[in-house]
Amino acid sequence: MIKIAPSILSANFARLEEDIKAAENAGAHMLHIDVMDGHFVPNITIGCSVVKAVRKITRLPLDVHLMIENPDIFVKEFADAGADFLTVHCEASIHLHRTIQHIKQNNMKAGVAINPATPVLYLENILSDVDLALLMSVDPGFGGQEFIPFTIEKIKAVKKMTSKAGVTPLIEVDGGVKIENAKAIADAGADILVMGSAFFKSDNYSLTMETLNEILGNR
Ligand code: DX5
Ligand code: ZN
Repeated sequence: MIKIAPSILSANFARLEEDIKAAENAGAHMLHIDVMDGHFVPNITIGCSVVKAVRKITRLPLDVHLMIENPDIFVKEFADAGADFLTVHCEASIHLHRTIQHIKQNNMKAGVAINPATPVLYLENILSDVDLALLMSVDPGFGGQEFIPFTIEKIKAVKKMTSKAGVTPLIEVDGGVKIENAKAIADAGADILVMGSAFFKSDNYSLTMETLNEILGNR
């Protein structure tokens, strides 16, 4: 099954609980939470306290995407806040192998993310250590941007790398995913599709989920 992870970056922050519960009731598979620090990316969003509050109102797995410098210093705080997946950018972590071990020692699933301009080769030596590989299909920082087409080839390349290495990390794609391109992204090898604006700006979350499940062949 291909999972859909709505990104709350595009939810209505003034009624976040309502929006998250509506996403859960619509059948979303996990919840993507974008943490930005104003340094690694030119935007500031959500921190640990919001993750902690969200943890209390939903049973959906929390997929926390750190777009921050020095992610190591926050690993424990996000574990305590209730993150299930914690993903760091390879561009932001100098000792990535150590960071990944640190995340796993804190009983979370560990993810590594790469920006659009970062070659997939950066994943090669860490692939067998991670639970999730996140390919950014927009330059991180904002919701509502256009999917960068060459990501499709990167997904296929990562899929090949995982088969060759005999490992099965989840492949997640983030940025510009919508109903129109979901099938092509999944066919290339993605397991999780992050959807911000295409999900939360849709009129009917249940209908959006139903359409996606049908397009993706989910039962
Ligand atoms: C972008 C974030 C994304 C964002 C996706 O930096 O990492 O998760 O919420 O939003 P859409 O789906 O609107 O591109
Ligand atoms: Zn994200």
